[in-house]
Amino acid sequence: MEIIIQPTLEAATAIAARLVAALLREKPRAVLGLATGSTPLLLYRELVQMKLNWRRATTFNLDEYVSLAPDHPASYHSFMRENLFRHVNLRAKNIHIPDGRARDIPALCERYEKEIHKAGGIDLQLLGIGSDGHIGFNEPSSSLASRTRMKTLTERTLRDNARFFGGAARSPHHVITMGIGTIMEARHCLLLAFGSKKARAIAGAVEGPVTAMNPASVLQLHPRATLFLDEAAAARLKMKRYYRWVFENKPAWQKF
Ligand code: GLP
Repeated sequence: MEIIIQPTLEAATAIAARLVAALLREKPRAVLGLATGSTPLLLYRELVQMKLNWRRATTFNLDEYVSLAPDHPASYHSFMRENLFRHVNLRAKNIHIPDGRARDIPALCERYEKEIHKAGGIDLQLLGIGSDGHIGFNEPSSSLASRTRMKTLTERTLRDNARFFGGAARSPHHVITMGIGTIMEARHCLLLAFGSKKARAIAGAVEGPVTAMNPASVLQLHPRATLFLDEAAAARLKMKRYYRWVFENKPAWQKF
């Protein structure tokens, strides 16, 4: 794991944006795995401002709420349209987000996996992290080998996301999410975490045991996982000073 700690979320996001931009320039047909939530908002804004060419790129989103129509304001379809898709030249046929209204969810999930495979696999997967360590919507106790499927949200996640629905009671309890096994097949995983609410989950993911109780900890087994943290999210890391030293003393050829 590479742990990059920056003083602010703006500084961390700027480096992450450079990394995504470099991939799109080097590999115009790149396949990107996209995340939602408040964490990647600034990243998407920066990518839009960079005026990159997305025409040949393909995207797969991590997850979507079951039962929400794509035009529901809290759907991840709406989130992506508002924050990225309507601002860049991605082709509609290259955009993939699970359809929360699918009648046959297992069939949709199987198709989603096949489409990722057909596209050549994901080059770079963006990830946020839930306050309980979830990635995508893979809640604690999710199989570390899981594939795209339906999941039930924990009370904690329902509470965390209640603000988007005007209360936890109104939030769908079921979601479709790429599995942890699916995420682990991406060639590069890039996780962003900002703010003190994420500090405990990050400490567990980076320095705790690999456990289904903190799904992000599985990234310890990924050959290329880069974590971008602000000071608050990094606050509970024991080896903070070492991670900083590593980043500041990178050999020139490894710099972003
Ligand atoms: C949801 C999303 C995750 C995201 C998490 C954290 O659960 N499915 O992909 O990482 O929220 O959200 P935020 O970035 O708003 O803290």
